Amino acid sequence: MTSSIPTSLLWLSESTVSTLLQYYDYPHPENPGEIIEGYDKHHALRTAKMCAAVAKHLGHDDERIRQYQTACVLHDMGRAGLDQDLFGKIWTWARTEGIPTRPAEWRDVHPETTYGNETEAFWTLYLDQLQELGIKTEAWAKEQVEMRLGYARRLSRLIKQVEPKLEQDGIQWFDWMELVTLYYYYPEKLDAAPEWVHELGEILVACEQLEAYSNRERGSDYYNRSDENFIDAFKYLESLKDKGQLSDKVLSAVRLLTGQGLFDTILAEARDGQLSDKDLDYLRSLESQTSA
Ligand SMILES: [Fe+2]
Repeated sequence: MTSSIPTSLLWLSESTVSTLLQYYDYPHPENPGEIIEGYDKHHALRTAKMCAAVAKHLGHDDERIRQYQTACVLHDMGRAGLDQDLFGKIWTWARTEGIPTRPAEWRDVHPETTYGNETEAFWTLYLDQLQELGIKTEAWAKEQVEMRLGYARRLSRLIKQVEPKLEQDGIQWFDWMELVTLYYYYPEKLDAAPEWVHELGEILVACEQLEAYSNRERGSDYYNRSDENFIDAFKYLESLKDKGQLSDKVLSAVRLLTGQGLFDTILAEARDGQLSDKDLDYLRSLESQTSA
């Protein structure tokens, strides 16, 4: 079955991919003329390649996979404009303080917060403390909060801005594509979605987490994490399965294709080109761990 998967793992042309990735670049609102280059571009592309391959393996048709890969390339566009210093400062502090960093976690701790208003609630509660940290609590800082706690709203706003450009390039943006990109932070938004949309959402969560765990640089920039490894990655995916966010079907497919070596190049790229023998041994062992 993997023979029908292109070696590039791309269902989109190279030029379409470059066009899509440009939408991660964001004009700095406070420094006219400065463009903040999209930090998540490489992660997004590597993730999109893995996602499409898994979708193909699970039997989705090529036209759908093309649209899905488009959504996967843009899945982190809601963080375009991420100001590494500011974002890192706010969210590293929040994690240290045990403050929820995702919408669902926020609502668990603060059930009084109106659904969708998590950014505003965070801002009201912690404004003084952010100021004490020396953070200029202006719109730009709030935007960094929105990138996590108001992700859906921000992504939707940015997608609307690029939709006419996508159309000019013959790319249609469907509601299901947005839903798929929101599954990690907002699984509840897919409760009523067709099974195939849910499955594509799951594949994205599995692949982006696998990539993120392999991607040491990004992990340490975002979270001061420096010990990313594949054992932890699959342990985390297992925990998402236990939580009900990933199905056995999707996790088995990811494990099988990773075990077969389909993603070695991508995973090596996320690690500056090198996988250790220990990494490779572990990755190859995944194939025998799967029943799919
Ligand atoms: Fe991502």
